[in-house]
Amino acid sequence: MRKPIVVGNWKLNGALADNESLVLGMLDGMPQLEGIDVAVCPPFVFVPQVARLADSTALGVGAQNCSEHDNGAFTGEVAASMVADVGARYVILGHSERRAMYGETDEIVSAKVKAALAAGLTPILCVGETLEEREADETEAVVRRQLAAVISGNGIQAFDRIVIAYEPVWAIGTGRTASPEQAQDVHAFIRGQLADHDAGIAQSVRIQYGGSMKPGNAADLLAQPDIDGGLIGGASLKAEDFLGICRAAA
Ligand code: G3P
Repeated sequence: MRKPIVVGNWKLNGALADNESLVLGMLDGMPQLEGIDVAVCPPFVFVPQVARLADSTALGVGAQNCSEHDNGAFTGEVAASMVADVGARYVILGHSERRAMYGETDEIVSAKVKAALAAGLTPILCVGETLEEREADETEAVVRRQLAAVISGNGIQAFDRIVIAYEPVWAIGTGRTASPEQAQDVHAFIRGQLADHDAGIAQSVRIQYGGSMKPGNAADLLAQPDIDGGLIGGASLKAEDFLGICRAAA
């Protein structure tokens, strides 16, 4: 049995006062959640604040990115070791917004996964196809390529410390969710690709779905055999919506 994991990706949202009420609202509902991992990923500058608020609770904290470099002349970058130092346990890597807007290649994502693992963080590795790629019937080829880069850069055993998030780009922030069957197909495909390397890892790795997941559609998605949680954008900015998804996963 894989333990479900629900993670909020706040993206470029937050302010000190808002974060506090959001996190306290989430913490209020946490005691009713058992048997799942829950975390939120605020922008870098708020990670210490949220880590402090969530200290000694079941709410984990993560970052939304990290550098592939550990230190040195990389102006504006944040190292994985720094993220860990201020209290994060997770880091989202390879999100489609970073691949599309900040030029992150499969190789860079793989190097970031390596840096995150070396710092003791759990990478949440995002993969997923654009609408154009889906319509051209390239979904499996794209996901296979994105995953293969990380397998070849880090080895299959690294996946016992990695969470995968399948996020079809066309479903992100669009209100258009993948159907449970569409999502399940890709999740099973990902597990199959891992199984070609190691059957045990394939069975134990947790694969989240991300893309317009909400309290109203979460239960059907999470009922699929290969969907082990969610990576939540918009709905993680309201405590009640986020907790609703968590309850569906628990
Ligand atoms: O990483 C989460 C994500 O990209 C999904 O965003 O707003 O569609 O839930 P959203």
